[in-house]
Amino acid sequence: MTCGKGNDTAFLARYLKKVYSFDIQKEAIDIARERTKDFSNITFINDDHATIDSYIEEKIDVAMFNLGYLPNSASTVITQAASTIESLKKLFPLLNDGAIVSIIFYRGHKGGLDEYVKTIRYLDHSPYQLIERYLTYTDIVEPIVYFYKKIKEAPLSRSHCFWGK
Ligand SMILES: C[S@@+](CC[C@H](N)C(=O)[O-])C[C@H]1O[C@@H](n2cnc3c(N)ncnc32)[C@H](O)[C@@H]1O
Repeated sequence: MTCGKGNDTAFLARYLKKVYSFDIQKEAIDIARERTKDFSNITFINDDHATIDSYIEEKIDVAMFNLGYLPNSASTVITQAASTIESLKKLFPLLNDGAIVSIIFYRGHKGGLDEYVKTIRYLDHSPYQLIERYLTYTDIVEPIVYFYKKIKEAPLSRSHCFWGK
């Protein structure tokens, strides 16, 4: 969902039959395309991930969000809660039952905490089922990763925490 320099895309392409990789920045897509040139199972999409429904019709088994900004870039483009939430809404009906969605949040940069709080608030009241969450408990600015699953059964109870406790 956030191609960046293509590290995650290369990882997914190694294990999955077909990978779609979105980024709103052409700079990121160009770097990722070069990095993954040995793979033939990747389709790059230079567009907002909130437009996913315009590009993908088949069912999806895994989706990966690595939010924030393009590392070591002069660009100030960052992911935003509104489009992240919109893409999660459009993604859900495209997911197979049992599909896994991972989301890494970075709360240290300007806008990162806002995106985290708003997105988690949406997810807490969404059909996405939280299955795992990792953080190091040392610092609020550390990355935090959530794993969600699409399941048919009744919702699990949830308890999110915003402050690492
Ligand atoms: C932390 S980087 C992703 C790192 C990447 N997954 C990797 O393996 O290197 C976040 C990326 O999200 C992209 N981005 C920001 N807003 C976006 C949006 N609405 N849709 C798609 N990509 C977006 C940025 O351009 C940036 O390249």
